[in-house]
Amino acid sequence: MKDIYILGIETSCDETAAAVVKNGREVISNVVASQIESHKRFGGVVPEIASRHHVEQITLVLEEAMRQANISFAELDAIAVTEGPGLVGALLIGVNAAKALAFAHQLPLVGVHHIAGHIYANRLVTEMKFPLLSLVVSGGHTELVYMKEHGIFEVIGETRDDAAGEAYDKVARALNLPYPGGPHIDRLAHEGKPTIDLPRAWLEEDSYDFSFSGLKSAVINTLHNANQRGETIDPKDMAASFQASVVEVLVTKTVKAAKAYGVRQVLLAGGVAANKGLRTELEKQFAKLKDVELVIPPLSLCTDNAAMIAAAGTVLFEKGKFATMALNGNPSLEL
Ligand code: KG4
Ligand code: ZN
Repeated sequence: MKDIYILGIETSCDETAAAVVKNGREVISNVVASQIESHKRFGGVVPEIASRHHVEQITLVLEEAMRQANISFAELDAIAVTEGPGLVGALLIGVNAAKALAFAHQLPLVGVHHIAGHIYANRLVTEMKFPLLSLVVSGGHTELVYMKEHGIFEVIGETRDDAAGEAYDKVARALNLPYPGGPHIDRLAHEGKPTIDLPRAWLEEDSYDFSFSGLKSAVINTLHNANQRGETIDPKDMAASFQASVVEVLVTKTVKAAKAYGVRQVLLAGGVAANKGLRTELEKQFAKLKDVELVIPPLSLCTDNAAMIAAAGTVLFEKGKFATMALNGNPSLEL
């Protein structure tokens, strides 16, 4: 069978990325220009700044991805681009670049859901075995997604308020840690002890949904009350206590869903997959479930990148699900 080469483009948030992937499984090139330094001083992603950076970077990143892959446009089979969800002004840069290239080189165009991309990052490291469950945890999403076959996604649980990464970033801010706060809390958590009593949002007995805003408020209130009383709380212990709550809920619900749905694999996805506490606890719990394989991709594929978009796009290409030149950025696209 002929090999399929797809150019992926991702600009949904603060990373401008392009990549070439072979047969939906093999990374040929993977270029990411991060804007984190530009957003740091604002304590979060500023949409207008993100769009401007994407405009500046997109051509350079695309050229570099094609150069590293040592491939011509004539050798590509399609162009896959993140169509949503994300920041609309950011999405539009990638979508328009993809449309321009598809038109100029007469290539098919494929619109990819950003979360499908995060899940398909796993296919770049292993074979996907169905039925499977994916825990998607990032700055914008916290979802448990069940898949019976390629390209079919069933969201069985999601956050009702803040995403896990968002909660990490907000708690980090309350502790005066730099943006993005996830890695800083993770590091401090390992130096502290989970001695502070914080809530766990289990929600209804049969629900796989999540909620992190109550936990975030509990951290902020505890810090505020201690401050009022002239007491100090060790940020290490607060980080450890916060992380213990997040990890306990994420892991318990994932294990419960994996058993209930009888899955063969559990795939971790999204930037929060970098969290050492989460990785360790998932590994510990899934080691007990002999029939379920836990997959955790390397960090470079967990955070936003375009190889994952090309990987997810390959499935759509194979199913003949092409986009037209009317493709638009959709900030609230459903999976
Ligand atoms: O997937 P991602 O790169 O971008 C989005 O699509 O959101 O995820 C970024 C998020 C940020 O909220 C960041 O704080 C969080 O992932 N993150 C972490 C860690 N590393 C990154 N959260 C907890 N622990 C970490 N080690
Ligand atoms: Zn993402």
